[in-house]
Amino acid sequence: MAIQGTSLDGSARGMWSSRFMFILAAAGSAIGLGNIWKFPYIAGRYGGGAFVLMYLACIGMIGIPILVAEILIGRGARKNPVGALSVLSGGNKFWTSVGFLGVASGFVILSYYSVVGGWTVDYFAKSASGTYIGANPGTIKEIFGEMLADPWEQAVWHTVFMAVTMGIVIFGVKEGLERWIEVLMPLLLVLLGILVVYGLVAGDAAGGLGYLFLPDWSKLVTNTAGEYTPRPMLEAMGHAFFTLSLGMGAMITYGSYLGERESIASSAVMVAVLDTMIALLASIAIFTIVFQYGLDPTAAGPGLVFQVLPLAFSQMPGGRFIGTAFFLLLSFAALTSAISLLEVVVAHFIDDRKWARRTATLIMGTVIWGLGLFSAFSYSLLENVTLLEDKEGRAMPILDSVDLIATNYMLPIGGFFIALFAGWFIKREVRERQLLDEKISRAFYKAWFLVTRYLTPVAVALLILFMVDKHLGIAESVLGGR
Ligand code: PHE
Repeated sequence: MAIQGTSLDGSARGMWSSRFMFILAAAGSAIGLGNIWKFPYIAGRYGGGAFVLMYLACIGMIGIPILVAEILIGRGARKNPVGALSVLSGGNKFWTSVGFLGVASGFVILSYYSVVGGWTVDYFAKSASGTYIGANPGTIKEIFGEMLADPWEQAVWHTVFMAVTMGIVIFGVKEGLERWIEVLMPLLLVLLGILVVYGLVAGDAAGGLGYLFLPDWSKLVTNTAGEYTPRPMLEAMGHAFFTLSLGMGAMITYGSYLGERESIASSAVMVAVLDTMIALLASIAIFTIVFQYGLDPTAAGPGLVFQVLPLAFSQMPGGRFIGTAFFLLLSFAALTSAISLLEVVVAHFIDDRKWARRTATLIMGTVIWGLGLFSAFSYSLLENVTLLEDKEGRAMPILDSVDLIATNYMLPIGGFFIALFAGWFIKREVRERQLLDEKISRAFYKAWFLVTRYLTPVAVALLILFMVDKHLGIAESVLGGR
């Protein structure tokens, strides 16, 4: 079903060929390294159960409402985030600058995202050539360490990843991509299913599931030494933004291509459920193996998936093939997310500055690639350059620090204003015309409206304040920490 439409500025923009395609593309943006690389390692680092439940609560109370808000803003204006907020606010400078913050977030996130995307392509090559097959756990760990210590290996794969992303963005929204997403996403799900079954049967099911789902609430406000820190809570919320691609306008951009008659709310719920499912499946596959080998779930950090799943691949029958397929599909999932990050930046230069798509992609892509080199070098040439401290007070590498700033501050601040805009400032007719459709009851609409107007902005603001307060110590003394 092809739905045609024109944007407010009259130019013909691309359009998804159906709601199904929109869901696939939005899920393609949402599902990526966030689900399979990042969620498992932060769930491990922040203590498992309580963190996972806090994250699920954030998806429901903050993630889904803002996802709906972004798609609504995008379809209401049929523009990129900067243009959309400008048009819908009648050219208000403040709201337009919220759009700019989104473009800036896309810029920053893509720079290191592409480096980790490069790691997955590298691991695809390593799996295909059998590098870690039959290796012992020590060697598997070393293989990852060697990659991190080699700046050029990472720079090369980062360049490959970024070049492919740019190549696809140059050719526009639809061409080619939909077909691939349709085939490869279900395959990824099937493969994860296989890994989960393997983990539950051959790994330590009780250990893994217990760690992931039995909450120890104290871990939400303390570090491993038992000292007060709000970091785990903030990280759970930040990750809800990151994993659903929220707070920077990716979903505004994708919503701007959604047909007029499709249901926003049911699409949003579908995307969130798929995304959450993938993150949980990946975590189960990983932690059953972590506990089987007696590894420390809090210690692995960004190397978790690259150090743990190869242990399983090197043991299971057909592991070389399954491992190769897994890292190929993960690279693809990362690519569809990277495309949406670059698309936000590029769409802004096309719509608002009238650049040609080609020029915008080549120039911005190259600048982002250059910025990404700092992340690619952050465990080798630049290992002594550290920006922030982790929750234990240790200095963090560049890549980890940039991720933290973008995910825990830039995205939530962007999301806070998007919720405020959708809840308070957007015209009522626009809101109702976009959201009230046959699939959605008035009750759901009312609930979304109240949550977005009050609960979401208050929750986000509180969590950010908690983090700022870490330096003032008010909450710490109230909670009776250190
Ligand atoms: N959601 C993507 C992931 O989980 C990352 C992303 C963040 C993509 C923000 C677009 C915008 O991997």
